[in-house]
Amino acid sequence: MGMSRQSVVQCLRAAVPGVLPSLLMCDFGHLADEVARVEAAGAPALHLDVMDGHFVNNLSYGFVVVEAVRRLTQLPIETHLMIDQPERYVERYIKAGADLVTIHVEATSDPVAVLQQIRAQGAAAGLAFNPPTPLTAIEHCLPHCDSVLVMSVNPGYGGQAFEPVALEKLRALSARSGERPLLEIDGGIHAETIGAASAAGAELYSVGSAIFHAPDYRTTIANLTHTAQQQRKQT
Ligand code: DX5
Ligand code: ZN
Repeated sequence: MGMSRQSVVQCLRAAVPGVLPSLLMCDFGHLADEVARVEAAGAPALHLDVMDGHFVNNLSYGFVVVEAVRRLTQLPIETHLMIDQPERYVERYIKAGADLVTIHVEATSDPVAVLQQIRAQGAAAGLAFNPPTPLTAIEHCLPHCDSVLVMSVNPGYGGQAFEPVALEKLRALSARSGERPLLEIDGGIHAETIGAASAAGAELYSVGSAIFHAPDYRTTIANLTHTAQQQRKQT
């Protein structure tokens, strides 16, 4: 753990519209090079996808990889925990170096308690919800969230098609008055979808295949950020 919760949130707010590379799609045989490349390409933070084979079918990686990435960069690290009962592990991810810990509302019986647990450990707290999950399922949690991660695919795999239901949720969240959590979107974000997400109110974008399947990370991140900036919702 490095930055305080307040400085993480400040840093992410300053990065809006910010494209966060999702390392799930990187070449893990050359992890250090990949982190150096996205950092040099201007990424404001990194998005690390943790999957447990229960909450989602797929398995990805855990603490060891988060720790390794922590040693490779000073950038803020978001861990997107696609795991059942995340309360069992959030402290370990914070110790491993996560600055923003994002849990799923569907994965725990008491999301507010887990968000409070994350903040109590000094990290920023994020809450994700899947395409079929209605906004009403997270509303009571919003005062405890530093960010909300609107899923635009069913989690588990990179490279899936964008689900437009995410746009309605972003519009509703961004229309709320008063202090709001940061609004992030995850899944199927690329040159053809980022503009609509931005217009709907997204501020941060987790991007996997559109970056890691492209030859030039810098140009890709710059183009995505530019499109998001141009389409940005006026509030
Ligand atoms: C999906 C993950 C995403 C994913 C994004 O389960 O949470 O972060 O890696 O990949 P793309 O951008 O390819 O949809
Ligand atoms: Zn993710």
